Amino acid sequence: MDRLLTGLQPSGSLTIGNYCGGISQVANYQKKYETFLFVPDMHAITVPQDPDALHKNIINAVAMYIACGVDPNLPDMHIYIQSENLYHANLSWILECHTPHGDLTRMHQFKMKSAKNEAFTEGLVTYPDLMAADILLYDAKYVPTGIDQKQHVELARNLAERFNNRYGEMFVIPEPLIPTIGAKIRDLQNPEAKMSKSTDNPKSAIFLADDEKVIRKKIMSAVTDSDGKVAYDEENKPGVSNLLTLYSVFGEVTIDEAVDKFKDGGYGDLKKGVAEVVIPKIVAFQDKYNEVIKSGIVDDVLDAGRDYSNKIAAEKYEMVRKAVGFGRI
Ligand code: TYM
Repeated sequence: MDRLLTGLQPSGSLTIGNYCGGISQVANYQKKYETFLFVPDMHAITVPQDPDALHKNIINAVAMYIACGVDPNLPDMHIYIQSENLYHANLSWILECHTPHGDLTRMHQFKMKSAKNEAFTEGLVTYPDLMAADILLYDAKYVPTGIDQKQHVELARNLAERFNNRYGEMFVIPEPLIPTIGAKIRDLQNPEAKMSKSTDNPKSAIFLADDEKVIRKKIMSAVTDSDGKVAYDEENKPGVSNLLTLYSVFGEVTIDEAVDKFKDGGYGDLKKGVAEVVIPKIVAFQDKYNEVIKSGIVDDVLDAGRDYSNKIAAEKYEMVRKAVGFGRI
């Protein structure tokens, strides 16, 4: 069975963007592939985090994965916390020593995040190597993500190819799995940008933990344009296209069907329609989330995932260690 792997940073509450690019894809593919779904808490500290909030976000994230349809009882589903497996950092170091500095500083995400914070840390620079280690340790063939992570998965591919050429077959070459609809859910107030969980403007993002009334308000106040025509055109009408995308994903229709439904109305009708399909799904996730938290299963799921992921990662790390000449033969 091929392996699929992905992770969602616990740097805040998850958004509907994270659902579209990450969790919903895992839920769709989980019966087809052996699945490694982990909480990248080591990635989260590339920007400052409050330690108490981070602990809580980790558990909440896992409960939310399950609430959104990830089935922890499938025999080939493994859910774990990155920092509970020390091989990620070990392999990351080896990969860092095989990555030209320029390959890291040209990453779009690095450029964006470092521009926002002049005092950025070295962790922000080497972050894609840690991400490559996350993927390559498990021989993952498929990596479901939104469009923003594509460049990082490509770096992991390049590293794997280079490593295999130099040391012999070592890593499976991973492929990004980008959804055809919903790969970039946009910021509701600034539709040029992607929706992000670390936004400063709470009206910009819909969080999976948001109250029903808050979600409705955010959708109704989403920025559109002044042309008044409901049409799908990502470049010239990013706000309206984003609303159509949300309607398509949450209403389970094609973009054309969504356009057809709203083309004779105004933006107000489109927004109401979006709220009607988004809210019931999020409320259902929240009900399930509360059940999961109450049931207390998260710790058991994470214990099993930690043990299994350590076993698999140890085997791969042993191969890599020998190949690069570490320690004793
Ligand atoms: P993160 O935590 O920023 O996002 C988690 C997942 O959500 C997707 N995503 C989006 N998709 C559509 N529209 C959006 N607005 C949107 N915002 C986020 C992301 O593409 C991602 O799939 N570096 C990763 C975490 C990570 C990882 C990995 C992922 C660490 N190691 C190994 C895959 C494999 C990140 O910061 O994602």
